[in-house]
Amino acid sequence: MKQENLISRKNRHLNFFKKKLHDIGKNGLDDIFLNYSSLDFIYPEDVNLQCTFMNAQLGAPFFLASVTGGTPEGAAFNRKAAECAARLRLPMATGSLRALLENPDAFSTFDVNPHGELPLFFGNLGVASALQAGGRRIRHLCDALHMHGLFLYFNHAQEIAQPVAEHERVDPGSVPRFIEEFGAPVCIKETGMGFSPADLRMMKEWPIAAIDTAGCGGSNFLQVEASQGEFPFAREEIEHLVCTLGHPTAQVVREALPLGIPIIAGGGIRTGLDIARALALGASLASAAAPLVRAWHADPENGITAWVQSRIEQLRVILALCGTSSLEDFRNRHRALQK
Ligand SMILES: Cc1cc2nc3c(=O)[nH]c(=O)nc-3n(C[C@H](O)[C@H](O)[C@H](O)COP(=O)(O)O)c2cc1C
Repeated sequence: MKQENLISRKNRHLNFFKKKLHDIGKNGLDDIFLNYSSLDFIYPEDVNLQCTFMNAQLGAPFFLASVTGGTPEGAAFNRKAAECAARLRLPMATGSLRALLENPDAFSTFDVNPHGELPLFFGNLGVASALQAGGRRIRHLCDALHMHGLFLYFNHAQEIAQPVAEHERVDPGSVPRFIEEFGAPVCIKETGMGFSPADLRMMKEWPIAAIDTAGCGGSNFLQVEASQGEFPFAREEIEHLVCTLGHPTAQVVREALPLGIPIIAGGGIRTGLDIARALALGASLASAAAPLVRAWHADPENGITAWVQSRIEQLRVILALCGTSSLEDFRNRHRALQK
């Protein structure tokens, strides 16, 4: 029964973003102005967007964030996301591996890197499921899927709004032991509410490889779940609730920067300009999820790659407009923003 629920939930999430994005609030990046330069004469064809992240050589600073797996639709999405990631040399993560923990037959829906072609490929799991299963068991699954590491997600707001309440309690103090047992890179993310400064301070002590802000300003999983059930806020009140409590993406990037942990700016990244602004703030990469889903629904064959490629081309133009031909130059030119 639980398995059935999980499958229908996964499909409900994919379908929620079929027709439109449901972005809530502002990602905070609109307030960031970039330095146009007239005297450098850099053109888009001069710009090199390659970068290194976690020892992997990437084609551009963009991450295909966790979305799905565990269902035939999820398998189709993951295959297309992987095709894009391999072609453009980008990192990607699958959605939660929980379906696989509950049903070994779900393996093929996550198995999109059988020949190890992806520069960086990650699994994904909620922190409660991960701690329950233990680092060794999860590592075994990730190895079988040729994954380089794992994204652990925290989603307290989503749990509270979920129609089938689970309300698990975990001791965040046991995350470091999980990471040690897992023995490969572990990154931390949210699902649309971002992290508070106190949350980030706690993570500073953890041996994590990166943080995806998954901040406020884009998709929000409190909203996705609240649209289903007995949540004591009306639909029109939810945006106000999320904007009052959530941490916008730009703010989380700024607050996480002093930790010295690589930051992936996620949550409401929609354009090349959003990516550029996040990089100018000091993020190593930017990520997106819902636009990939919408692009896939609109054009299952080429939608994901076309969307990502267009954002990369936008980023290339922006670097040229700023008179910079590499990501390093671009970040240096915007040093003043990284404080
Ligand atoms: C359909 C869908 C399913 C998602 N499933 C997961 C998931 O299984 N695990 C997770 O950590 N995040 C999940 N996310 C959250 C995204 O990884 C991302 O953090 C969030 O959507 C914010 O990015 P966006 O504004 O670009 O959509 C999902 C997002 C979407 C759109």
